[in-house]
Amino acid sequence: MARHTSIILLTLATGSLLLAQNDPGPGRGPQGPTPARPLPGLNANELAWFNKGVEVFREVDSVSGTEPGAAGSGLGPRFNGNSCSQCHIHPTLGGSSPRVNPQVALATQFGATNRIPDFIQQNGPVRVVRFIRNTDGTPDGGVHDLFTITGRADAAGCNIQQPDFATEVRRNNAIFRIPTPVFGGGLLEAIPESTILANMAANSATKVLLGIRGRENRNGNDGTITRFGWKAQNKSLLLFAGEAYNVEQGVTNEIFPNERDETPGCTFNATAEDRTHLDQSRALDSISDITGLMHFMKFVAPPPQTNTQDPSVQRGGQVFTQLGCGMCHTPTLQTGRNTVAALDRKPVTLYSDLLLHNMGDGLADGINQGNARGADWRTAPLWGLGARLFFLHDGRTQDLAEAIRAHAGRGSEANTVVNNYNSAAAQSKQDLLNFLRSL
Ligand code: HEC
Ligand code: HEC
Repeated sequence: MARHTSIILLTLATGSLLLAQNDPGPGRGPQGPTPARPLPGLNANELAWFNKGVEVFREVDSVSGTEPGAAGSGLGPRFNGNSCSQCHIHPTLGGSSPRVNPQVALATQFGATNRIPDFIQQNGPVRVVRFIRNTDGTPDGGVHDLFTITGRADAAGCNIQQPDFATEVRRNNAIFRIPTPVFGGGLLEAIPESTILANMAANSATKVLLGIRGRENRNGNDGTITRFGWKAQNKSLLLFAGEAYNVEQGVTNEIFPNERDETPGCTFNATAEDRTHLDQSRALDSISDITGLMHFMKFVAPPPQTNTQDPSVQRGGQVFTQLGCGMCHTPTLQTGRNTVAALDRKPVTLYSDLLLHNMGDGLADGINQGNARGADWRTAPLWGLGARLFFLHDGRTQDLAEAIRAHAGRGSEANTVVNNYNSAAAQSKQDLLNFLRSL
């Protein structure tokens, strides 16, 4: 009960001392790609699989592997990127969008003739587009790739066109998503459903007072909780790897064996383009790319917290709790029993409940995925915030304070907490921002 009191009282603690509070920015850490770190405690075999995964995650694909510097094959006919590492790179391999959007150069790489839609900008985040409705008004919700291989030196004879993005934007039918980081993926996967549900049920009186509900997303096939992606729409790392390989890059594989566009003249390879290499006898040589990608994401470590001794960061951690942020952004969940020792009963400092929350009109994208409705989003894990460049599902802001204010909107479960934030003392706000940049 003591906890309620502190949350509510803080709304009274105004008394502004400083001028405006500033997001200290992504100053910490490297600004370019650096090597990803494996989880502590992996054994030699697991490390070998992690390293193999790093290689595959960095691999760049062209249509049939003939483009210089792009030895992987299977790109297209439609694509958003040519490598996992193109979108998941900042501040380390597995992260989110880099500062300079590689999609601009990719549009015309190797002779491609793509037009760059207005919403793809050199200084903006990597973006993926979904359409809300089909032309006949029925729900769409799927990813429409930005680019085609038409014109590329390795795609002679292919002549498919890009979707008419300008028209879809004008009709308010296009929504955007930026990459979510994949680090700590194995830890996220290893959290038992019972832990997620127990955390959902915890602190119920406080949550009622704050107007916070939250519910899990579930898989339509086996009924278990899904947890990956902005709407917690996806079940596992392996499934996400297979889906991303086909959706983002056009590489067919053993989970998604069919091309998304089978236009004659545009399919240059037999399917599945990525597969288990049955002609290889050594395990590490025989694995499919998606298995390699899965092992990278499973074994990559989450970013460590920094500046933990800074008094402002320490106070900010308390402010985070007092305002009620932690009622959605659960600081720590525990993994269950796991066959991998490094994932076995470990604390996961993800700052998320992995649940869906109605975030109101301002953030709604009108897309349903599983149990997630248009305004529902998974509580974004906050680990790695320290070096992140773009925030919220569409990357609309680079400013942490703005990202917090954007939580408010008609119908948002975060409205009371944002009010708490708005009426907090200036120093408390600054401490909070410093804390977030320590993650
Ligand atoms: C063109 C950019 C792009 C490329 C290339 C790309 N991704 Fe992503 N990735 C995204 C976006 C955007 C999301 C968020 C998707 C969503 O939730 O709608 C995402 C999310 C993910 C997630 C979910 C992480 C989480 O916890 O939410 C995983 C896992 C992932 N990608 C793996 C991969 C892998 C593996 C590859 C390479 C095969 C890849 N991605 C290639 C853009 C990209
Ligand atoms: C009702 C649940 C809820 C509460 C309360 C809440 N958040 Fe969030 N937070 C979310 C969700 C859901 C998202 C993802 C929204 C989106 O991208 O559209 C998010 C996103 C964020 C992001 C952006 C992360 C990213 O990956 O882009 C930050 C930063 C953040 N929250 C900080 C806070 C802070 C600080 C507080 C307290 C003042 C807070 N949140 C309170 C649910 C919540």
